[in-house]
Amino acid sequence: MSQVTAIKKSNITDTEFLNDVISGLTQQQKTLPCKYFYDDKGAALFEQITSLQEYYVTRIELSILEQYSQSIAQMLPENLSIIEPGCGSGKKVAYLLAHMANVKTFVPFEISEEMLSYSLAHLSPLFPDLAISPLLGDFTHNQMVKQLTKDTALDSQTNLVYFPGSTLGNFSPVKAIEIMNNFHRLCGVNGYVLIGVDLVKERQVLLDAYNDKAGVTAAFNKNLLQRINNELNGTFNIDNFSHESRFNEQHSRIEMHLVSNCTQSVIINDQQIDFIEGESIHTENSHKYTLESFKQLAAQANLKLEQTWQDDSNYFALCLLRPL
Ligand SMILES: C[S@@+](CC[C@H](N)C(=O)[O-])C[C@H]1O[C@@H](n2cnc3c(N)ncnc32)[C@H](O)[C@@H]1O
Repeated sequence: MSQVTAIKKSNITDTEFLNDVISGLTQQQKTLPCKYFYDDKGAALFEQITSLQEYYVTRIELSILEQYSQSIAQMLPENLSIIEPGCGSGKKVAYLLAHMANVKTFVPFEISEEMLSYSLAHLSPLFPDLAISPLLGDFTHNQMVKQLTKDTALDSQTNLVYFPGSTLGNFSPVKAIEIMNNFHRLCGVNGYVLIGVDLVKERQVLLDAYNDKAGVTAAFNKNLLQRINNELNGTFNIDNFSHESRFNEQHSRIEMHLVSNCTQSVIINDQQIDFIEGESIHTENSHKYTLESFKQLAAQANLKLEQTWQDDSNYFALCLLRPL
């Protein structure tokens, strides 16, 4: 079996979930951070989403990896360490690992313990000689680079930061630049950043991808309220909310909302939150880029777009970046 070290807990605290929920639900436009979707039920629902017909994102990114992972690996030097923030199931990195020689360490970095364990169970039998240093933590924290390098034995010069799944699209341009700036520091002067980027496409394709007929995405979205009930003594009546996906033209993004079906109040850890009928909680953004808009965004984090690999329909791109 691989040399898997014990899971280390990095930069998440027990009170953060409650603080983030109360702060999000007391804003004018109520919001909840999407990083909390992935408790054990949410992680399982996300895995179901990845194989839905409407959710082209995973299927297409996997097809690009199947076709090009050898070419991608050829662009990378030997003796790299790979860090994968938000690694999820770990299925995608397996394609790269299969073609890379002498990877020093693989650091799966996840906020969800369930996802992290799942990725270890998937990867360790496939790569028996690989050193894996799993880390439980939050890649959106400002101190992320400092903590990550402290918690692992990473070389500071030549790393690959691998960030598939269009997870970058979950963040506003300002936050996406901050995250890529951290990746820039993490990969080192001779390092690389490989990002999965979801491209602008027909609006109905996008809307359907986040609102499937079987209702799995709706269940995934609503599970966030169930998680608040379970972990923060919340009193949400889940049936009183409806899932909605909306396209925001101005920001070129899909938004997921939970719309209150009636006027109602909810208690969370002794705090009352009021909803009027039709009011929504904004739970997720998924920004869609053109190659040019992504290139410009990356440049603001001092990363230069070196090469892209795309599917035939130009739905999705894997973008290899290097420090400027
Ligand atoms: C959209 S999924 C993508 C999963 C995987 N990378 C893929 O491409 O299939 C996002 C993943 O990032 C993790 N995640 C979300 N926010 C995070 C954060 N702030 N810090 C660490 N992991 C996070 C989630 O738990 C989830 O596994």
